[in-house]
Amino acid sequence: MAKSNEVLTPCSIMSRYVFLVQICVCVIFFVAVATADQEKCDKTKCPGPLRYYESLRCKPVYEKEGDCCAKRYNCDHLKERSKNKCYVNGKEYEIDEDLKAEDANPCDIECTCRRGWDDGVSPAFICAGVDCAFGPIKPGCYKRANLSRCCDEGKEICPEKPEDRATCVVDGKTYQDGEYFEVKNEPELNCICQPGYEGKNIEPFCVKSKRPFCSPEFRNPNDVYQNCAPVFYNDQLPQIDCHLSSRCQNSNDTVIHNHDDLKSGEDLDDENVCLFGNMKMHIGDELNRDTDYTSICVKCICEVPPVPTCQHLPNNECDVTKYYPAF
Ligand SMILES: *[C@@H]1O[C@H](CO)[C@@H](O)[C@H](O)[C@H]1NC(C)=O
Ligand SMILES: *[C@@H]1O[C@H](CO)[C@@H](O)[C@H](O)[C@H]1NC(C)=O
Repeated sequence: MAKSNEVLTPCSIMSRYVFLVQICVCVIFFVAVATADQEKCDKTKCPGPLRYYESLRCKPVYEKEGDCCAKRYNCDHLKERSKNKCYVNGKEYEIDEDLKAEDANPCDIECTCRRGWDDGVSPAFICAGVDCAFGPIKPGCYKRANLSRCCDEGKEICPEKPEDRATCVVDGKTYQDGEYFEVKNEPELNCICQPGYEGKNIEPFCVKSKRPFCSPEFRNPNDVYQNCAPVFYNDQLPQIDCHLSSRCQNSNDTVIHNHDDLKSGEDLDDENVCLFGNMKMHIGDELNRDTDYTSICVKCICEVPPVPTCQHLPNNECDVTKYYPAF
């Protein structure tokens, strides 16, 4: 004992132990970080009408840095908007101003910002009607459209042997020349399989839309100003699909409060509420379905504020004939 200067006090034993624990914690930490990095964030598993938010340029707000799913979105920029202008891609258009080519998708033909049909109805873009008609295709043949043109169906291609038709592998799925495909996490890309595709989602294989397809601000800005909710069909994914209609407040609508009262203290601040017309919903709250006069089978719930998510229920969960015997 005397030879060594080291005295083994409980404290020095403790400090060695702490060091080991630190190494151990450190190793666990790095392994955990590495695993989290490997599991890439799959936004299609997050709740909420995410594509709707993105189309309106709302900013995701995360509970903590590095989270995959947003707990709410910040759409405050929409409150500053003039009710006498049109908006697309965050740009202002005056009434009677034509849509610029840089903001126009191929089928946005002769679009102009027009005054609302009534006071209190915001201006919106009105375009020439487009109705694409596609001709029949001979058996064994196919067509390859040009993504940069509206209603383009392309020339008929008749390969001598079916094997001559080029294929594309995208996210593990195989498509044939001329077929449309979707790219995971990039819903604004419009793509067609063509010869020469090597996994790069660039032109001429893919074209990014010049304005977001789903944005209500283009044709229905009142949906935004009146705090309406996007409605999705049962087989749609609100995370990546465009909504097909909207549910706006009527005077009989009520909120069913489902939120946990014990937690309501943290929920009650105005940042974590969904807005539906002039009503507020906490996370988990639902709209009364009986007052939806367009369809009783649409469930609207506050998942990721500030916009409620509305989705048609599967047929086995909602029998329309029970409510409307005339069906
Ligand atoms: C597609 O259409 C655009 C615009 O009309 C044109 O510039 C381009 O050459 C076409 N691409 C092909 C492959 O035909
Ligand atoms: C609200 O309910 C009343 C009574 O059922 C009905 O007469 C009225 O039309 C409803 N309001 C709307 C906006 O549909």
